[in-house]
Amino acid sequence: MKMILDLDTGIDDALAVAYALGHEEIELLGITTSFGNVTVDKAVKNSIDILDLFGQNDIPVFKGSDVPWGMDSYVPSENIQHIHGENGLGNIDLGVSSRRESPISAIDFMIQAAHEYGNLLTVVTTGPLTNLAEAIKKDRAAIEKIGKIVVMGGALTVPGNVTSFAEANIFNDAHAAKFVLESDIPLVIVGLDITLKTMLTGKDIQTWQSLSTKAAQAVTAFTTYYYQNEYDHSEFGGALHDPLAVEVAVNPEIVTDYLPINLTVETKGASTGRTIAALPRLNDTEKSAQIGLDVKGQDFVQRFTETVYRLLEAAK
Ligand code: BDR
Ligand code: CA
Repeated sequence: MKMILDLDTGIDDALAVAYALGHEEIELLGITTSFGNVTVDKAVKNSIDILDLFGQNDIPVFKGSDVPWGMDSYVPSENIQHIHGENGLGNIDLGVSSRRESPISAIDFMIQAAHEYGNLLTVVTTGPLTNLAEAIKKDRAAIEKIGKIVVMGGALTVPGNVTSFAEANIFNDAHAAKFVLESDIPLVIVGLDITLKTMLTGKDIQTWQSLSTKAAQAVTAFTTYYYQNEYDHSEFGGALHDPLAVEVAVNPEIVTDYLPINLTVETKGASTGRTIAALPRLNDTEKSAQIGLDVKGQDFVQRFTETVYRLLEAAK
């Protein structure tokens, strides 16, 4: 499966990269980046660093959106910095790669790849939907050719993680998310409804700790930071939000219940960022989104830790 990952490269985004690299069915064509867990410049750096850590310096990284729609600056909230660290990778320095982003923009790369690979291409977004929204605006016909788009974002049946209404990726650019969800482009939605059923704890990554490679030590260190900081109780663990979106792309059966739905996003007041059914389209027979409501969570946690273990073992 040819895949583009669209990331706001914090810790679980980096874990999604590791999972994709370790998965034999995935060919990672490139990483597109945006603001979110970090500024877009840090998302570019973190993406390059994580790829280079695994010796994948031929996979290109593209710089995308730096601010949400309608804003002229962006600073990650204190809560985001608490969860992902100030540098987005638990304040673990992976080293300074001399590699820079590729010269074309994230949006143009997505469009070019859509034209080139069409139905063979899968796009997995694990940050705000700003890049995808821009790509739809610029060349909707190209985006319509993409075989599958999986979006990590939203919360339908559980509370949000920024406010009780809103999940972070949607909240960080509610206007762009509304545009994408109302665009009628078919989407598979991996929201908190299922990602909160894939909690990673220290016990799960014990095997990683025994590995002495530089990659293993770095990945174990930032993953430990994440499961200790995402929620107040480290026994609860950290959710594999972004890796689960990659899994759903290659193995849709991991989700045991999908709800077909036409979604919108609220953009005003206390419920800004809430994903909810679009009332005017409630009775449409065609539904553009399939949102996951239940998942074989423990199966995925196990597959994830084993796949990443093999990758870490083989790395330098
Ligand atoms: C999502 O928000 C980001 O903080 C994470 O990387 C994930 O993509 C979870 O709500
Ligand atoms: Ca993310």
